[in-house]
Amino acid sequence: MEENTNSSRIYGEYRDNLQTILDSVVDRIVSFSDEEYARSGIKLHEHLIARVKSEDSMREKCDRRGLPQTPQSALNELTDSIGIRIICSFIDDVYENVRLLHSFDDIEVVLEKDYIKHAKPNGYRSYHMIIKVKTPFPDVMGRTPGEYYAEIQLRTIAMDSWAALEHQMKYKRHIANSELIVSELKRCADELAACDVSMQTIRNLILQQ
Ligand code: GTP
Ligand code: MG
Repeated sequence: MEENTNSSRIYGEYRDNLQTILDSVVDRIVSFSDEEYARSGIKLHEHLIARVKSEDSMREKCDRRGLPQTPQSALNELTDSIGIRIICSFIDDVYENVRLLHSFDDIEVVLEKDYIKHAKPNGYRSYHMIIKVKTPFPDVMGRTPGEYYAEIQLRTIAMDSWAALEHQMKYKRHIANSELIVSELKRCADELAACDVSMQTIRNLILQQ
């Protein structure tokens, strides 16, 4: 019983707002993409996934970061209660979506990490943004209209498939021969990245015709 009370508390009274804000940002990304598709036949993203971080995961992340399990930690210290992953077919589409997110009046980009131009040492590639969304709702800092953080990850299909497989394997028990595994994973990431560049080049050639 106590556990349930706690689990419904991590987002406090702000829980429903998170889903509403997530839906509104996703709707705009999707409708912009639909308009672009109707106009030029180019799909700005292949698909996207969006989620409000589960209360269990958020409590676990607060523990991991040494933060108390409170709405202030979840919504003002941590910035990924709202998460959107945009999966694109081509590298240029990733940057087109980045430009789109910068163009919204009610969205402020507070942090960007370009792990496409600067891959992580393990080979991970993705473009990460932390944004602040201005909303009509009250927020955890007592402001109305309030501001809510969201994390956006943008990747190509190739980057996404690598990240999914690497994530799946990372959580397996200790693996012998791990140095070989690390370097092989890195090699696969680099090969996929080379394919992304080639596919972009092919598309550019086709579009020029
Ligand atoms: P957290 O990892 O969420 O605590 O945040 P951080 O401050 O380390 O931010 P970072 O931008 O490095 O990573 C945020 C998210 O990107 C992670 O939660 C993952 O979803 C994803 N990510 C980052 N690095 C990797 C990686 O090496 N492999 C995979 N599969 N995903 C990664
Ligand atoms: Mg991390």
